[in-house]
Amino acid sequence: MKGILLAGGTGSRLHPLTKVTNKHLLPVGREPMIHHPLKKLLALGIQDILVVTGLEHMGEVVNLLGSGRAFGCRITYRVQDEAGGIAQALGLAEGFVGADPMLVLLGDNIFQSSLHAAQHRFLESGAEALVLVKDVPDPARYGVAEVRDGVVTGIEEKPAHPRSSFAVTGIYFYSPGVFHIIRTLKPSGRGELEITDVNNEYIRRGTLQSAVLDGWWTDAGTFESLALANQLISGVTA
Ligand code: G1P
Repeated sequence: MKGILLAGGTGSRLHPLTKVTNKHLLPVGREPMIHHPLKKLLALGIQDILVVTGLEHMGEVVNLLGSGRAFGCRITYRVQDEAGGIAQALGLAEGFVGADPMLVLLGDNIFQSSLHAAQHRFLESGAEALVLVKDVPDPARYGVAEVRDGVVTGIEEKPAHPRSSFAVTGIYFYSPGVFHIIRTLKPSGRGELEITDVNNEYIRRGTLQSAVLDGWWTDAGTFESLALANQLISGVTA
């Protein structure tokens, strides 16, 4: 399995902290944010990892992670020329992934649990895609999954009136067919290629699996959630 860490975007919700650096390099606990999802990939034995980030801060990201040797993995880098969305960033991974299954993590997702069980289920089931969902108090900030009898029947990106309290986390398992779907996407209202549109295509085909993520989870893309991520990682709020 290949690992993909998506660390692009402008970090606009964290200005001015992100004026001179990339969001994923800000501290969470005693380490840069991106170390946390990287360690989740390493814990699964994933050794080939692609990091996608913007041109502006690519140098700092490479300075931090290097070849991957210090982490016992091989890291490859790709530049996302503009902040065109998560699905656009994932599209840059096609040549790197080849015919392998992949685990895609958003670089600002900080969580407690191991992904072993989800990885096992994805590989054993032969599913095309598996997303991790989490019950959250503020679903409107996320992609929100409508769930019926344990099956995700639709996902809405940042809905004003969420149909459930299940956020779709930034933890996605895909087969290489995902790149065919990405090629068919049109930019959303915010001008981005949305990962939610990719997942809705799998729902339409009836091939999206989901699992509920155990333990705590947060993104770290706003001041509030960055502070929460720091508390959670240091065990202040468990
Ligand atoms: C992105 C996705 C959203 C998902 C979230 C998880 O949102 O678009 O569906 O729930 O990541 O962190 P963003 O943080 O880019 O606004």
